[in-house]
Amino acid sequence: MKLKELRIGDLVARRPVIQGGMGVGVSLSSLAGAVAREGGIGVISAAQPGFMEPDFATDTMEANLRALKNYIREAKELSSGGIIGVNIMCAMNHYEDFVRCTVESGADIIISGAGLPADLPKYVEGSNVKIAPIVSPPKAAKVILKRWDTHYHRTADFIVIEGPKAGGHLGYSPEEVGYYDEVGYDEKIKEIIDIVREYEAKYSRKIPVIFGGGVFDRKDIDHYMELGCDGVQMATRFVTTYECDVAESFKQAYLAAKKEDVAIVKSPVGMPGRAIRNDFIKAREKEREHITKCYGCLKKCDINSIPYCITAALVRAAKGDVDNALLFCGENVWRLDRMMSVKELMEELCD
Ligand SMILES: Cc1cc2nc3c(=O)[nH]c(=O)nc-3n(C[C@H](O)[C@H](O)[C@H](O)COP(=O)(O)O)c2cc1C
Repeated sequence: MKLKELRIGDLVARRPVIQGGMGVGVSLSSLAGAVAREGGIGVISAAQPGFMEPDFATDTMEANLRALKNYIREAKELSSGGIIGVNIMCAMNHYEDFVRCTVESGADIIISGAGLPADLPKYVEGSNVKIAPIVSPPKAAKVILKRWDTHYHRTADFIVIEGPKAGGHLGYSPEEVGYYDEVGYDEKIKEIIDIVREYEAKYSRKIPVIFGGGVFDRKDIDHYMELGCDGVQMATRFVTTYECDVAESFKQAYLAAKKEDVAIVKSPVGMPGRAIRNDFIKAREKEREHITKCYGCLKKCDINSIPYCITAALVRAAKGDVDNALLFCGENVWRLDRMMSVKELMEELCD
């Protein structure tokens, strides 16, 4: 069966694959541009994009906004005007500034999770940027769509469901992850699709539903399309591509990971996260890290009680100091066995 294109309003992605945003420094312009060039949707992460700028430590926000703007421009150029999105986490400080920078820099899409983007419509008003919340359980879909409807008289341009097998921060407790491992997540996806249908009827327009979390191959994509989804969001598989922006040693850590190395860890964001249980995680299970600098990245973060600084741990990962860093990954990371190009991966998945 041929995969259908993904239409989000006036945007048309030839291949219905969104590359999930990955911070810090994992999905920047090289990866996002390559995915968009291959007819998918490339997503740049707005989590500390300025980490390589010379003034990152002294003027973090200035460095972040400058870098984000440049990455959007570069990704657009690399993909000759392909579809480029930005992932902005609600848990981040200066959320509104990142949104405004994204709109002004000419990105097409904003995808927003790690909390519910309650007031995102206000920040993009007057622009043509498409907006999508990331939701985990059906209740989150209900709450955010109702909020945008009652407060802003609009609905989502599309919606991303992040299932319990995803990488990075999770909207599920470790117990819920274990439970859905047993019973599967398909029933919840169907519930969310039903909720979305109500708003499609109300606004007389299509609201594409995208599923992400553990999607690995074409068989998985076909499965979610048959359930009623319009596309998939995939992240882990894109890390082991030549074009992925992260350090080579991070990619090699993915290739070396075994099933038993994947763990649910506590993140300073206050949500569980899925990561490789490396020496850094093992050490943090025993003692807190000595923190010397705060980058002001999160809205709710208490430097006196967190086990480690998430910005510092993710920046070390992005730069390749992998034994001393937080390596987020999806549940299926252990299935990766070789590097490939984004072109090869997109062809394998879609053609
Ligand atoms: C290394 C890594 C970093 C991630 N960073 C973010 C992030 O900054 N913001 C976010 O909303 N999701 C983040 N995610 C989640 C992905 O965007 C995606 O939705 C999810 O990982 C999909 O599951 P998969 O990795 O099994 O394909 C991250 C995932 C990984 C693997």
